[in-house]
This record gives sequence, C-alpha cells and structure tokens, in this order.
Amino acid sequence: MNKVHVKNFESAPLNREDVTKMLKERLPDYSLEQPFYNDPDLFRIDMEEIFAKEWLFAGLTCEIPKKGNFITLDIGDNPVTIVRGNNGEVNAFHNVCRHRGSKICLKHRGKTAKLVCPYHQWTYELDGSLIYAGSEMGEDFDKKKFPMKKIHCRTAGGYIFISLADNPPPIDEFLDDLSHYLEPYDLENAKVAVESVMMEKANWKLVIENNRECYHCEGSHPELLGSLQAWDDTEDPMVTPDFLAQVAEKQAHWDECEVPHLHKSAYNNRNRIVRMPLKEGVHAMTMTGEVACKKLMGRISSPDMARCGSCTCQIHGIMGKVIT
Ligand code: FES
Repeated sequence: MNKVHVKNFESAPLNREDVTKMLKERLPDYSLEQPFYNDPDLFRIDMEEIFAKEWLFAGLTCEIPKKGNFITLDIGDNPVTIVRGNNGEVNAFHNVCRHRGSKICLKHRGKTAKLVCPYHQWTYELDGSLIYAGSEMGEDFDKKKFPMKKIHCRTAGGYIFISLADNPPPIDEFLDDLSHYLEPYDLENAKVAVESVMMEKANWKLVIENNRECYHCEGSHPELLGSLQAWDDTEDPMVTPDFLAQVAEKQAHWDECEVPHLHKSAYNNRNRIVRMPLKEGVHAMTMTGEVACKKLMGRISSPDMARCGSCTCQIHGIMGKVIT
C-alpha cells in the first residue's frame, strides 16, 4: 500500500503546501490522515480556505419574518448577524461595532428598531449605516465612513446563505434550482416551532462524513431505518428492484402534484438536491412513520411527498447548520 506523506507536525506547524501535498497523495476511498481531524494548524487552514471563502447555509428567512428581526451566529472567530431590513430585505453583517469592536447583537435572536452597540451606543440603521456616534467624535466625524461591514448574503426558497469571502464563488445556478425545488413548501412563511442545538465533539469533517453514509445506520440508528431507506439514489448499487418500482410510482404521483423530484447533482459536485421515497406506507421520519403535524406546508396537498434534501456545500446537514 502506498504511504501517504504526513509531515511530522510536532516539529513544525502544517502549512498550505503540506496540506495540498497530503490531499494529492491521499488514498481514494480511505479516510484522510489523522492531522485532518485533530491538527490545530490544519483546522485553521480549513477555516481560512473553506469556511471563510465558501457559501454557508446560515439560517431560514422565516427565522427573521419582520423588519428588525435578527439572528446571530459565529463562523469560527467571526461573529455574524443577519437582519431583516426596513423593506423586507435580508442583510448580513459582521456583528462587530466599527468604533472599538464590541459585539452589537448579543442575543442569538431578537427584534430591534435599530442596531445599537451596547458599549458606547453607536447606533446603526437596519441596513448597517451608522446614524449616531455621540458628540465625543467631534464635528468633523463622518458617519458615512463607518457603516457595519456587510457580508455577502443570498436567499433562495427560504434558505439564507452567507459568504465571508470578498469574492464568493458562483452560486446562482444552485440558488435557482433550490428555489424551484423548495417552492411547494413556502418556507418563507413557515414558523420555527422548535430549535435544538447539538454540539458534536469532533472535527467538522467527521460529522459530514457520517452524514454522507448510512452504513452505520442499522447498528447506530435502527429507529431511523423504520422510516428511511439506507440509500437516497436510484444509482446506488444497494438499491432493490422493489425500491426502483416504488420510486417510479411515487414520481408519477409527484408529477401529478407538480412537485419537482428529478435528482440534481451538479455545481462542481458540491451540492445535490434529491427527493426519495420513504419506506412503503411511511409518511414522515417519525418513530411511527405517521405525520408529526397534520398541517402540511405551503401548497403540499398530500403527506406522501417523501423526503426532500438539499445538501448544501457538503458542509451542512439537511436543514441543519454546522458551525465550527
Ligand atoms: S465599541 Fe461600539 S460604540 Fe464603542
């Protein structure tokens, strides 16, 4: 077996060249070498090269339904706030005051008429413009020069995506498709009923790798397999003829309901959108397989719509945010 180059990282910190070399030499279909999961320098490079440059799923527009609603999150060491503006627009900002760097929004979510820094009360409009800085700054102080720093922010189908990059990678095609696939659910007008936060004591790659295989499901989540198939792709070598027949039948039903279902896997292989049937007779991913809520979302007319997942950037679980 070829041996992958692994720098002795106890003697010198890993740098980008080391990581590039390790990735080029990695054995396909094997786990990455240990430093990818536990080396602090490699983690820092992950943060700089991926989390600070890619688009990240940051929340749902229905979390901030009215003007002045905001949510906050941290992308590594970067505090972010996402705010519904006066005209309904969704803006994202570094949640950092331009005066002396205090965090502005201190709560995880809230509603405010203006964004007021708690330290010396600099006050920003919901679009980030600075409107009050006190008299200490002097008459020559030009407030226009000190708005909150904006972050790239896009919405599609009720999802909010942000990117900390100066020039984020293209995302238009993915957002167009996502809007199309999520349109039946009208997520924009949904309400958040429950929110739970799960802290994983693991490197983020382990979480994603685990998310992308269900080989472990039978042993670890037998209750999940009461509703879920262990695959989500008709091309999966494990699928059975019965499953393919079920997919064909369901797809005819979805066509009748004008609900999109064609498998999309593009965007440089980073994202995919799928609709796959649950097990026969199952309507929802609950312990019993029965729907958890009788009210269906948007224009969905039947509970038998299967599961619809969009795996965004492979960094996020379905409808879940992974924040490092
Ligand atoms: S740090 Fe915000 S007003 Fe001073």
